[in-house]
Amino acid sequence: MKKSKTYDTKSLSAKQPIGIFDSGVGGLTVAKEIKKVMPHEDIIYFGDTKHLPYGEKSKEAIIGYCKQITRFLMGQNCKAIVVACNTATANALKEISEEIHGQAFLFDVIHPVAEKVAFSLHQNIGVIATKATVGTGLYKKTIRKHNKFLQVHELATPLLVPAIEEGFIYHPITKAILANYLSDKKLNHIDTLILGCTHYPLLTKEIKQYYEDKVNVIDSPAIVANQVKFILEQNQLLNDKNHLPEYKFYLSDITKNFQKISKKFFGNKISLELKNLDKK
Ligand code: DGL
Repeated sequence: MKKSKTYDTKSLSAKQPIGIFDSGVGGLTVAKEIKKVMPHEDIIYFGDTKHLPYGEKSKEAIIGYCKQITRFLMGQNCKAIVVACNTATANALKEISEEIHGQAFLFDVIHPVAEKVAFSLHQNIGVIATKATVGTGLYKKTIRKHNKFLQVHELATPLLVPAIEEGFIYHPITKAILANYLSDKKLNHIDTLILGCTHYPLLTKEIKQYYEDKVNVIDSPAIVANQVKFILEQNQLLNDKNHLPEYKFYLSDITKNFQKISKKFFGNKISLELKNLDKK
């Protein structure tokens, strides 16, 4: 969690929503967990479906998308911004933080997970993520900064996001892709696996099945959601129990799969709106 030095908690109020964003459905795994641990919070979600997959884009492009989305969410008066995307975290966290300029709390999906894993009983850690995340080596750097005795093996698994966005969950194609990636020799001796892309928890069951439950698959969305709760609670920024939460979803391109998964996680009454941030 990053907080600017000029940040003033007194200017924020519990009534403000939590802003969450990702390139697509992945961030919904984090949003769902945030809803579970903080059931009285309003959530504004932005899914940049028009530009996904972020994992195949240049750092400059990712920074550009993230700055636009952050500006949009700050315009919605969010008290916290959750970057529910590893690729955005690894490539654009500094720029996102500059955009927020100390006016809201900023949370990401890599630092709390790396820290938690570094201080738990693990030795050989595997990380699967997009190309653009693995390219930065941020998981390895962050885990080893906390605990230099750990082995960290990062593997890019780029076909998983398109398969998930296509709705191929419990699908033979995804099973074959997973078997191919997880049998990579880089991951041969791992005891722990971090799903370093927020899309991947949608495949947790299949991944656990592949390992026959012999590898510890880290529940990143729960770690992130609990950190958000802890900080907001400490700053008295959580709504009281009488507050009926509102969930708003903005998409740069409406996809059937997003509609399906968002309704599955948040119920049928959610509002889903097309929002093109490229238009001036
Ligand atoms: N869900 C995202 C992540 O955590 C991005 C996936 C993508 O768009 O490539 O990295």
